[in-house]
Amino acid sequence: MSSTTQTTPMAPIPLSRKPSGRADPGARTACIRTFGCQMNVHDSDRIRRMIQDAGYAEVQRYEDADLVILNTCYVRENAVDRVKGHLGELNRLRREGRVKKVALTGCIGAAEESATLQQTYDIDLVLGTHNTYELAEFVGLPTMQETYTPELPGTEGGHNAFVTIMTGCNYQCSYCIVPAVRGRMICRPMGSVIGEVENLVAGGAGYITLLGQTVDAWRHEGKRFCDLLEAVAESAPRVWFTTSHPSNMEDRTLRAIGEQDTIVKRLHLPVQSGSDRMLKVMHRGYKAERYRRKIEVFREAAPDGTLSTDIIVGHPGETEEDHEQTLRLVEDCAFDSAYIFKFSPRRGTEAAQLPGTVPDAVVQRRFLEVLRQVEQNAFARNQRKVGGVEEIYIRHGSTEDGKAIGETWSGHAVHVETNIAPGAYVKAKIESAGPHVLYAGEPLE
Ligand code: 5AD
Ligand code: SF4
Repeated sequence: MSSTTQTTPMAPIPLSRKPSGRADPGARTACIRTFGCQMNVHDSDRIRRMIQDAGYAEVQRYEDADLVILNTCYVRENAVDRVKGHLGELNRLRREGRVKKVALTGCIGAAEESATLQQTYDIDLVLGTHNTYELAEFVGLPTMQETYTPELPGTEGGHNAFVTIMTGCNYQCSYCIVPAVRGRMICRPMGSVIGEVENLVAGGAGYITLLGQTVDAWRHEGKRFCDLLEAVAESAPRVWFTTSHPSNMEDRTLRAIGEQDTIVKRLHLPVQSGSDRMLKVMHRGYKAERYRRKIEVFREAAPDGTLSTDIIVGHPGETEEDHEQTLRLVEDCAFDSAYIFKFSPRRGTEAAQLPGTVPDAVVQRRFLEVLRQVEQNAFARNQRKVGGVEEIYIRHGSTEDGKAIGETWSGHAVHVETNIAPGAYVKAKIESAGPHVLYAGEPLE
């Protein structure tokens, strides 16, 4: 496990601010592919700024790129399989003399698996999540060893900005590779977070998402996550955070979601299983009853809010009774959405060594049963929104069908018939609903 040399000055450390080399016709070109979670999307933003500062023009296709950067995910095996597919394709393009250099960054880069990949594929540089700054030297920028801390500012200028408040994770969930590849928790000082939020808002950002593996575990100099969230909610017009851990989630935070106008009433709280026995095997540190109580507080604080979760089916040793308890919890919590994962053994995690493998066919059936239960609830809850008028924040501009994707204050995803620019708010009537999204008509005057 790599650890970070922590340099945590109060002010964000700026990357070099040379103009980007986008417009230079003979410029070197780079293509960034991002796999996995929001943290990786955010890390790719940092990488993007490095390559632009180094004078690379960003391109979208491998065949147009001198340098390809694969920013990878390791959390489940299928994520690795996808990356292998891309590496195979890149080997072919190199043989044809198109792509010149390949860099592998992110969570696979931080895992032992990267050494095996290097033996099979042509990879010029492997970086983990704690030394992304070394890419700077590789692309011809001055060495910036000090810049990889949670201090490094992220997305800038867009209407929708991500701000990392902590990195790493201090839990040791049986199945999870994250602590091995992202290291232990490092929390960013409050002043630094607020400073960045204020800069982003002054630069036009209308939506701030606070990021980290367990944001609600954030604490610094006597302050806790809720203090930070409340301060950010004072400074930004719209705020959300992800992802949280039930053991850290305070009732105070749940109430703040309901009370503060600027916080989106949407909670992502991974439960993983509804069975106390499995939660213990997974080392999650809470029982199903405690999770249910948290949800009651959230539903009371934000009755129209949306709740999502992560669930793993088929963890080693999961019995039919455990599965039934997960179904029961899904029914009781009436999630608005859920990410359901089939257990995927990750080398180096405890669960990869555990007996009691669940046969594939059983995993598939349980997966579908949980999915069906989630979708039934979500559909019924979404139906209740039909006929109402909502204020909708436009996240993504309209596509060919003339529909933009927005979000209500309660955290519902909505398709709206408008070509207004992202970052704007519109009011529109919800005309219909599916299990995953609401559909609104044209905005009202
Ligand atoms: N197998 C299946 N799902 C996993 N997750 C993490 N590790 C694994 C694994 N080995 C899921 C968890 C976590 C989400 C990000 O990915 O549900 O909350
Ligand atoms: Fe992984 Fe558990 Fe940490 Fe989440 S809390 S990142 S599942 S170890």
